[in-house]
Amino acid sequence: MASEQCSFNQRWSLKGMTALVSGGTRGIGAAIVEELAGFGAEVYTCSRNQEELDQKVQEWQAKGFKVSGSVCDLASREQRKHLIHTVSSLFNGKLNILVNNAAISKMGKSSDYEAEEFSRIIEANVESPYHLTQLAYPLLKTTGNASVVFISSLAGHVALPAFSVYGSSKAAINQLTKNLACEWGNDGIRVNAVSPFSVRTAPIKLSENGEGR
Ligand SMILES: NC(=O)c1ccc[n+]([C@@H]2O[C@H](COP(=O)([O-])OP(=O)(O)OC[C@H]3O[C@@H](n4cnc5c(N)ncnc54)[C@H](OP(=O)(O)O)[C@@H]3O)[C@@H](O)[C@H]2O)c1
Repeated sequence: MASEQCSFNQRWSLKGMTALVSGGTRGIGAAIVEELAGFGAEVYTCSRNQEELDQKVQEWQAKGFKVSGSVCDLASREQRKHLIHTVSSLFNGKLNILVNNAAISKMGKSSDYEAEEFSRIIEANVESPYHLTQLAYPLLKTTGNASVVFISSLAGHVALPAFSVYGSSKAAINQLTKNLACEWGNDGIRVNAVSPFSVRTAPIKLSENGEGR
């Protein structure tokens, strides 16, 4: 078993690769950071909570992983620009892997959705990853061998009750994935989406504005 593990790790090494994972402090994003770092990639991540971020980065560094990160509210265009600027400086203008993981979700009846809530979800789940990927494009292209992964959802493929806005945002991500894969294939950038169903991560916590997983 030990030798199988060893040859598996050697075959799938990401040594020398750089990665940015949005929203890596919890849940699926944290698992992705750990997996990429475990295969040898140098990973940068972000979230809005400094304390949680520092704690996770410390944990990963203690395991010997090359992970760093900073606070960034991905809802802000300026902060997205700043994030990519930081990543570019750290990785000498090259990014092999971009994982657009951060997103928000809120259940609700379609008949009740307020315009503001609708905009907030579409902004977080569509506009923000779209813009972040646009900003990362020159860094990805420079490598000649890059990969963008969008974390979508089954809710973007089938109709789940009370998820009309979230589902629409993920369906948009599925379409964006196809468009970018066509547009950027010749630049050596692969673009894929992963669509999980329900993943039991941390207990669902609803914030003041009703945001949750
Ligand atoms: N869990 C599921 O059952 C499930 C199923 C299908 C698809 N998905 C998708 O998988 C992805 C991850 O889901 P999850 O359940 O693991 O989420 P989660 O546990 O809520 O974690 C989300 C991560 O993103 C960060 N984040 C959220 N908004 C942010 C913002 N504006 N700026 C910066 N960071 C932000 C969070 O940190 P802060 O809040 O501290 O900023 C956290 O690190 C999402 O795209 C989700 O739609 C999840």
